[in-house]
Amino acid sequence: MDVELANSRSAKRFTQRYAESVSQPKAQFFRKMGLDIIMARREGISFYDAQGKRYINCHCNGGVFNLGHRNPEIIAALTEALEKYDIGNHHLISAPKALLAEKLTDSMRVPGQKKDEEIRRVLFGSSGGEAIDLAIKIARGYTRRRDVVSLVGGYHGHTGLAVKAGDAKFLDPFNIDREGFVQIAFEDVSQLEAALARKPAAIILETIPATLGMPIISPGYMKKVRALCDAHGVVMILDEVQTGLGRTGKMWAYQHYDVSPDMVVTGKGLSGGIYPISATCFRQKFESVFEKDPFIHISTFGGAEVGCYAALRMLEIVNDREFLASVTKLSDFFSRECRALQNEFAALKEVRQLGLFMGLVFEDAASCLVFLKALISNGVFAVYAANDKRVLQFLPPLVTSEAEAAEIMRIVRQSLRDLGSIKNRLMKLVVSFMIG
Ligand SMILES: Cc1ncc(COP(=O)(O)O)c(C=O)c1O
Repeated sequence: MDVELANSRSAKRFTQRYAESVSQPKAQFFRKMGLDIIMARREGISFYDAQGKRYINCHCNGGVFNLGHRNPEIIAALTEALEKYDIGNHHLISAPKALLAEKLTDSMRVPGQKKDEEIRRVLFGSSGGEAIDLAIKIARGYTRRRDVVSLVGGYHGHTGLAVKAGDAKFLDPFNIDREGFVQIAFEDVSQLEAALARKPAAIILETIPATLGMPIISPGYMKKVRALCDAHGVVMILDEVQTGLGRTGKMWAYQHYDVSPDMVVTGKGLSGGIYPISATCFRQKFESVFEKDPFIHISTFGGAEVGCYAALRMLEIVNDREFLASVTKLSDFFSRECRALQNEFAALKEVRQLGLFMGLVFEDAASCLVFLKALISNGVFAVYAANDKRVLQFLPPLVTSEAEAAEIMRIVRQSLRDLGSIKNRLMKLVVSFMIG
C-alpha cells in the first residue's frame, strides 16, 4: 500500500475513496482547511505525507506518540510477545495484566501513604473513553449516588458516560441527555463548593484540561477539590489520558500537586503508539463494587496480553529517573525559547506549560489558525484547542533530541514571522470574518 500511496495522484485517489467509504464531511473539512494529509512513512518524531513531505509531530495524538512513531523498543516488545501470546482470554487470570497493573500502581505510590488511600487496583480497557466510563461506573456503584461533576469545556471521550461529562455539541446531535451530569466553570471555587455539597458520586477533571486550552489548574484549587471530596464522600477521578506517562516530567501530572486522587485514568501513550490499551486505576476500597459479582464489568479487548507487553516496555522506558529528567531538561529549553518568542512577537500572548504539556496562546483565534497553517506548511504538525481556538496545543514527543528541539523552534519562529506577512495578514482578516 505504501508504494501506491507514494505519489500525489494515488493520494488524491485515496482521499476520494476515504470520502466515499469512510466520511464525506470529514474529507470535505480537511480539503477546505488544506489539511488533506495522508500519513505515509513514519519514524521517530516525524511522519511523511504521500509526497514525501516531512512533518515533525507536535500533536502526538495527545500523547499516543510520546515515544515517537514506531518506537523500535515497543516494536521489539510487541514482536517478542507475538511469538508467545495473543489477546488472551478476558475471563481468565492473566500474568501480563498482573505485571502491568503492578507497574502502574507502583508508579502511583506515595511514601508513607495510608494503605486505604493507595491506588492498588487496575482494570484495563482499549480506549480512554472506555476507561473513563468504568471510573464513573465504579464511583456510582461504590457511593450509590448518581451525579458526576465535570468542567465546562473539558473532554473525556465519546463513549456512553464519558461523553456526558463533555460538551453539549457531542450530545445534542445524538439526542443524548445530560441527566446525572453537572458542569462547573474552570477554577470557580464557589461553583465547586456548591456542586460537591450536593453530594454527587464523583468529580472528574483532566489534570490539565487540554481541549479547554491547557490552563494549568492552581495548586490551591486542586487541594480544594481533594478536601471537598473528603468532606462530602465524593470520588475524585483524574483523567490523565493526555497528561500522564511522563508528559509533564513526572510520571503523572497530579504528582506536581500535593494531592492523591481516588482514581486515575490513563490511555493514549500507554499504547506506545502501537497497540491500543487504557487503564482505570483506583483505590482498593472501590473493589467492593465487584465483590458480589466480579463479572459485572468486562472488556474483551481491554488489556489484551500482547498490548500489555508493549505497555510494560513503554512504562519501563518512561518510569525512569533519567528519562523523566531528560523530559524536564527539554521542557526548560522550550520554556526559554517560547518566552523569548513571546517578547519578540506581539501575537504570542502567553505560554502555558507543565513539562512538555504546552499551550501557545495567541491574541485571537484567527492568529492561532493562520499561525497553525504556516506551522504545518513549514513542517511541524500540531492542532489548536477545540474549546479555545486562541491556543495551539504544542506537544513535542518526549524523545525529541536537543537538535530536533532546536529545529522545531526554528520552524515555530519562522511561522511567527510568516504570520506577519501581508498575505497572512489578509488571510487573518478573512478567517476572523469566517469565525466571527
Ligand atoms: C483527556 C482525554 N480523556 C479521554 C479521552 C478519550 O480517549 P479515547 O479517544 O481513547 O477514547 C481523550 C481523547 O482525546 C482525552 O484527551
